[in-house]
Amino acid sequence: MAKRVLANEAKKYVGKEITISGWVYRKRESGGIIFVIVRDSSGIIQAAIKKGNVDEKSWQQASQTTIESSVKLSGVLKQDERAPTGYEVEASSFENLQVSEPFPITEYQSPELLLDKRHLWLRSQRMTTILKVRAYVFRYAREFLDKRGFFEITPPLITVAGGETGADLFEVNYFGQKAYLTESSQLYAEALIFALEKVYSFAPSYRAEKSRTNKHLAEYWHLEPEMAYYNINDNMRLQERLVSYIANKLAKEHDDLLKILNVEPSTLLNVKPPFKRIKYEEAIEIINSNGGHLKWGDDFGVGEEKMLTEHEEKPIFVTDWPRELKAFYARPNPKDPRTVLSDDMQAPHGHGEIIGGTEREWQYDVLMSRIKEFEQAKGIKFNLENYDWWIDLRKYGSVPHAGFGMGMERLIKWLLNLDHIRDAIPFPRVINRVKP
Ligand code: 4AD
Ligand code: MG
Repeated sequence: MAKRVLANEAKKYVGKEITISGWVYRKRESGGIIFVIVRDSSGIIQAAIKKGNVDEKSWQQASQTTIESSVKLSGVLKQDERAPTGYEVEASSFENLQVSEPFPITEYQSPELLLDKRHLWLRSQRMTTILKVRAYVFRYAREFLDKRGFFEITPPLITVAGGETGADLFEVNYFGQKAYLTESSQLYAEALIFALEKVYSFAPSYRAEKSRTNKHLAEYWHLEPEMAYYNINDNMRLQERLVSYIANKLAKEHDDLLKILNVEPSTLLNVKPPFKRIKYEEAIEIINSNGGHLKWGDDFGVGEEKMLTEHEEKPIFVTDWPRELKAFYARPNPKDPRTVLSDDMQAPHGHGEIIGGTEREWQYDVLMSRIKEFEQAKGIKFNLENYDWWIDLRKYGSVPHAGFGMGMERLIKWLLNLDHIRDAIPFPRVINRVKP
């Protein structure tokens, strides 16, 4: 049996015998020839099975094959401009590994059916392409941080310390004790900077938010760098470089994938630091001048994010948030006590918040009073027992530090201009779906 080659490499083998393994993408028969287009992870290639050229068994197998059957065929590669890629395998043998039952997904399907059959829909050209981009985005994010001396850390995902508001936690029965799926690995990353200084955690975060929007997942992949001795400005510089690095590298190395998804690579090449920095106060003015009705202390919804970034071509930072809108760990702004040292990175064209970052409160006394303030504002009792280990960090050689969290699916949704965040992840967890 000749060497197996991938569909997109076949053109290097003109005149040679090759083997193609994959799945049947299209099939038609005309005048004693069966044309089978085979798909594999790299693309598609046409094979022609001619009655006279193959033995009876191969002919039978080709006749019986169906869409999405797994197949293996061999033959000489020819150039043929009538074939979809300009090349065709003239088959000398054809074999079905498994003849597929009628494939449940045909050309026009409802979004609901495509979600029910997600495990099969992932084979579509669109989803395959998005999944490749996703893998590259993950790779480049790691690459960027690794090159800058960061250590990747692995936090626990089952925890008793909530992290953000604590209101949106999934509860876990942990051998009879109440525990939660983590909302953010930040608190653990903070512990690890005292050993490793610059770290990042790359793990899922869980949010039991009852939000039914095109930007919310109940389980999403969260990249959370944490850096000793960084202030909020260092933090923002790192964020804009990280995002530009990913966008630029994608555009340079995978313009073919971007084009399949109708994304113009030059729009991503133009994403370069510095990103605009505007204060929350100014952001409210922009939103209100575009039809919004926000006052100091209001958070942004989907509509407001759109009013703010509709005409932007690059992400922007919104800084200096009111202290009541950000978590207890955010460091109060020495220049404006109404606010904390925080930044949200908003993607252009209304794709929403992709990063949330802060300079952390690192002094014990200030932290404790921030926690009291938080309890009063939210009308809740903070369970200090669950956070004592994290509070300890402010007692044993505390240092100024900062960090941020980037939602990978939010990032991908913007980079690829997807309508819905669920297409940025293979098996989305949203409010009404936990299967497949
Ligand atoms: O702004 P958030 O809630 O910040 C934190 O969790 C910090 N502890 C991160 C840190 O400083 N280490 O979440 C960070 C990012 C958001 O900007 C957004 O991109 C993403 O996580 N995110 C979600 N993505 C998808 N679905 C959801 N329900 C999300 N909630 C937040
Ligand atoms: Mg946020």
